[in-house]
Amino acid sequence: MSIFDQVESEVRSYCRSFPVVFDRSEGCYMYDENGRGYLDFFSGAGALNYGHNNPYIIEKMTEYLAHGGILHALDMNTVAKRKFLEDFNERILKPRGLDYKIMFPAPTGTNAVESAFKLARKVKGRQTIFAFQGAFHGMSLGALAATSHAYPRAASGTPLYGITFMPYPFGFNKSFDTIGYIENVIEDDHSGSEVPAAIVAETVQAEGGIIPVDVQWLQRLRKLCDKHGILLIIDDIQIGCGRTGEFFSFEKAGIVPDMVTLSKSIGGIGLPMSLLLMKPELDIWGPAEHNGTFRGNQLAFVAADAALDVLEDTKLLDHVKEMEQVVIKYIEENILPVDRRIEYRGRGLIYGIDFTALDPSGALAGKISKKCFENGLIIERSGRNDTVLKILPPLVITEEELKSGLKIIADSAKEIIG
Ligand SMILES: Cc1ncc(COP(=O)(O)O)c(C=O)c1O
Repeated sequence: MSIFDQVESEVRSYCRSFPVVFDRSEGCYMYDENGRGYLDFFSGAGALNYGHNNPYIIEKMTEYLAHGGILHALDMNTVAKRKFLEDFNERILKPRGLDYKIMFPAPTGTNAVESAFKLARKVKGRQTIFAFQGAFHGMSLGALAATSHAYPRAASGTPLYGITFMPYPFGFNKSFDTIGYIENVIEDDHSGSEVPAAIVAETVQAEGGIIPVDVQWLQRLRKLCDKHGILLIIDDIQIGCGRTGEFFSFEKAGIVPDMVTLSKSIGGIGLPMSLLLMKPELDIWGPAEHNGTFRGNQLAFVAADAALDVLEDTKLLDHVKEMEQVVIKYIEENILPVDRRIEYRGRGLIYGIDFTALDPSGALAGKISKKCFENGLIIERSGRNDTVLKILPPLVITEEELKSGLKIIADSAKEIIG
C-alpha cells in the first residue's frame, strides 16, 4: 500500500484518475517518476494557461527569490503587489475600458466567490442570489450553496442558504426562454422569490459539461439585471485569463459585469491567487471586514505580472483563436466519425466531447479517458455523470502538440467504442 493510500484522506480525487506519481513538468507535459511523459489536456483544471514551468515566468520568480524578495506580507504594500496592480490596470483593464477596484480575497477561487456574494448582499441589503443549474462556484459553504451538483452539496452537513437556482439554456431547457423565465420570477409577486441581490453566471459552464451561452443570452441577462437593480457577477475563474480567446470571457458580448471573479491562471505559474474585481461604487467594504492571512501571495504577484508579458509578447489570445480552429476541424474530421451520436461544444481552448447519447451513465467516457491516459494523455471529464471529455490544454500549446493529443482521443475512442 502506498503512502498515499495509507495516510492521505479518501477525499483525494484527481490522483485516482491519473494513478502515477508525477515528478516534474515542462510546457505541455508532465513526467512521472519513471520519466514517462504525459501530454497535459487538463492544465491543473485551468490553472496552467501559460504551461508548466513557463521559462520566462520562472526566470522572473527566480530573480525575485535571489533578490530576497518578500514572500509573505499579509496585505501590506509591497513592490511586487504594486507592480502587479499597475500592470493589470494598465494592460488588462484600461485597454478594455474597464474601471474596477481589485480585491485579493484569499488564495483560491472559492474565496473570490465568497467575497463576491458577501459584498453583493451587503450592497443590496438582500439575501438571495440566483445561480444556474449546472453551475460550479467552489466548495466553501457560501460558494457551495451556488454549486448545483448534489454530491458535494450533500457533504456540507448543514443547509446551504441564500441561493435560488434558475434554468440554464441547456439539455431539457435548451429551447426554453430562460431569461424570460427569470424575469417572470422577479416580476411576479407570487413567484415566492425575493428580487435577488445578484445573479452569478459562468459564460461557459466548465465543470457543468462545457456549456457556452451565446452572446445574446448574456446581453439579455445584463439588461435584466440593470432593469431590476440586480448585480451581475461573472465567474471567470476557469475560463478567464485568455481561455476563450479574449482575456475575459464576457468581452465578446460587450457587457460589463458588476463583479468578476478570477483565479486559477491569474497566478501565471499555478500558484494560488484570486481576485475579485468590482465596480468602484460597490467597494463599500470596511477595513478588515473580509480579512485573511494569505491574501497576497507575493511570489504569485511576480508570476502573475510576468504572465502579462507572456500574454502580450506571444500574442497568446490570437494563438488561442487559431488553435480553436484546429480543434474544431480535428473533432469534425476525426472524432465525430467514430460515432455520429458524439456531440461537441466549446469556445477558445475549452472544448467538450459529449458521449451522453452513447452512454448517459458516464462509464463509456470513463473508459475512454482511462484509455487516453494509458496512451499518454491527461484528460478529465465533466458534466452530469461525467459524460463529457474536457479538452483544456495549456494555451501555449503548439499545433503539433494539440493534434497529437486530439489523435490520442480519436484513437482511444475508436478502441473503446469499436
Ligand atoms: C467557475 C469556477 N468557480 C470557482 C471555482 C473554485 O475555485 P477553487 O477550486 O480554486 O476554489 C472553480 C474551480 O474549478 C470554477 O471552475
